[in-house]
Amino acid sequence: MKGVVLAGGLGTRLYPLTHVTNKHLLPVYDKPMIFYPIETLVRAGIKDVLLVTSGPHVGHFLGVLKNGKELGLDHLEYAYQEKPDGGIADALGLAEDFADGDNITVILGDNTTDSNISKAVSDFKKGAVVFLKKVNDPFRFGVAEFDKNDPKKVVGIEEKPKEPKSDYAVTGLYIYDKNVFSYIKKCNPNFAGRNQLEITEVNNYYLKDGELRWEELKGFWSDAGTFGSLFEASQFWASKQKTTGEL
Ligand code: TTP
Repeated sequence: MKGVVLAGGLGTRLYPLTHVTNKHLLPVYDKPMIFYPIETLVRAGIKDVLLVTSGPHVGHFLGVLKNGKELGLDHLEYAYQEKPDGGIADALGLAEDFADGDNITVILGDNTTDSNISKAVSDFKKGAVVFLKKVNDPFRFGVAEFDKNDPKKVVGIEEKPKEPKSDYAVTGLYIYDKNVFSYIKKCNPNFAGRNQLEITEVNNYYLKDGELRWEELKGFWSDAGTFGSLFEASQFWASKQKTTGEL
């Protein structure tokens, strides 16, 4: 299994901080944000990783991550997303050559979690797995809709719905087989009216083909892309370090 970290985007909600550097290099407590998703992959045994990035501060990554060895990676590659806000699926499309037909675990560069996804990674054979988490503000995310007669069956995922059909957000962790790249090529930039290729459209293609499974993400999970969530994520990691003495 290979890993892909998506760290493109413009980080506009964190201006003026993201005038200084790329969002994913801002501190979450005592480490650059990007360390957390990479460590999540390493914890799951994934050491061959592609980082997709973009934007005005793209060069800053090399000085921080170097060849990834200090974070436990065997191999770190970089790809550049030409349209920095082309969408998550647009960024993932750049991983096709790197994946080279293998399955991939994908994580957004602004997601931090203490969950261990090793089992989902080692059990994965084909299709797609999305990790869901119950949240108070589902309208900010892709939201799962469940079958009324079978509360475990996802029947749809809506992107940032005004009236969410559940409290279960699709987090920024996914496992895909090689078909992900043909689904990305079918994506329509008007899917959610944002002129972006949306990962929610990709997940709905898998769902339509009966190949989407889901798991609830255990433990703490948050994105860190707004001032509120960046602050909360820092607080979580600070208190975890105090109580366990480790990260
Ligand atoms: P978002 O937070 O949706 O977008 P953003 O990072 O551009 O921030 P803002 O909305 O404040 O301008 O993206 C979540 C993650 O997805 C982001 O941390 C990196 C990744 N991403 C890409 O890699 N490429 C993209 O084109 C987008 C939109 C996001």
